[in-house]
Amino acid sequence: MNKKASEQTLVAQALGHIDKETQAVVLPIHIATTYLRGEDNSYPSGNVYSRDNNPTYKPAEELLSTLEQGAQALLFSSGMAAAVSVFQALRPGDRVLIPKVMYWALRNWLLTLGRDGGLEVVSVDMTDTDAVAAELKAAPTRLLWLETPGNPLWSVSDIAAISALAKQQQTLIAVDSTCATPLLTKPLTLGADIVMHSATKYLNGHSDVIAGALVCAKGTEQSEFWLRVRQVRSQGGAVPSPHDASQLLRGMRTLFLRVRESCNNAMMLATELEQHPQVLEVLYPGLPSHSGHAIAKQQMHGGFGGMLSVRLKGNEHFSGEQIAIRTAAKTQIWKRATSLGGVESLIEHRASVEGEGTPCPPDLLRLSAGIETAQDLLDDLTQAMTAAAKAN
Ligand SMILES: Cc1ncc(COP(=O)(O)O)c(C=O)c1O
Repeated sequence: MNKKASEQTLVAQALGHIDKETQAVVLPIHIATTYLRGEDNSYPSGNVYSRDNNPTYKPAEELLSTLEQGAQALLFSSGMAAAVSVFQALRPGDRVLIPKVMYWALRNWLLTLGRDGGLEVVSVDMTDTDAVAAELKAAPTRLLWLETPGNPLWSVSDIAAISALAKQQQTLIAVDSTCATPLLTKPLTLGADIVMHSATKYLNGHSDVIAGALVCAKGTEQSEFWLRVRQVRSQGGAVPSPHDASQLLRGMRTLFLRVRESCNNAMMLATELEQHPQVLEVLYPGLPSHSGHAIAKQQMHGGFGGMLSVRLKGNEHFSGEQIAIRTAAKTQIWKRATSLGGVESLIEHRASVEGEGTPCPPDLLRLSAGIETAQDLLDDLTQAMTAAAKAN
């Protein structure tokens, strides 16, 4: 396909690949685990064994790498597998900087198994670029991990400024861009070395595939670090099934429509909820009241994402935490479930998930705005908040 076509066209047609053998407009799923050697003992197709290089992965990897303007993408069996592979490619004793506000399971992995494996893990407020600069200067640091907007407060970090600081100290920078999606922010063009996605979320978009991905920056595909990441995948084998990879590509083809709708819904909900008398605070990078709004405007294009959080006030009967939990219990359209980035809107009392040590306030509800009608979503939430505030 003409790679000069717009991103939306490239995505809708999944780069326009046609199956050479059958002319099918949807690429086949390769279920084989192993591939024939030639008589000369070589592998003429380039395919050897599917623990690492199943050809079904390639179209999704190529599309994601194109969208991120990277050199090469790798699919993984989950977002966590993708993220953890980056840290497994490091060496014992390596120092890593991680955000104070980030996806809780990865923070938990880093502070337990990551530390047990010998990593020196230091948490930093990644919304404070001066604090990041000071921490980078404090000791040689191998890798800095960003997540922006960061779960569940939607904290915004300045990717370009932090990448420039990291480069001065020869520190690698990897960005979890799951919630920004490759449409709204392209971290590799802002100086990051690696971008990570939980493809379970917006990339697939239908809450029916667990997958992850990493993309490396142009010119780094032969770097020692990226080759080690590849080694982690090929020898560790944390790859998706061929069916999941195919399903993921199918989901990605509607990425534009879904992300646009989710962003519009989230913006409308954030604006309306900010005026609601029961709401203490709305956390959404698209609101001028959000502390990361100015940077979000610079590095997010076409929307501020589909994720927002609301903090609810207590009353004479219940604390804010109780009202938050009761509100989630009384929604009908919003589904009470973890995860995000699907077509259906999800609501979650996040502190219940994250447990001890979380920066998440107890009165916070995390909202993943899907693609339903915004007014239906708002009406459902407001009726649930009203019902939740009443004593039984
Ligand atoms: C921002 C972010 N990063 C990483 C992950 C982990 O992805 P997965 O559930 O696909 O392992 C999640 C999952 O919720 C996430 O929200």
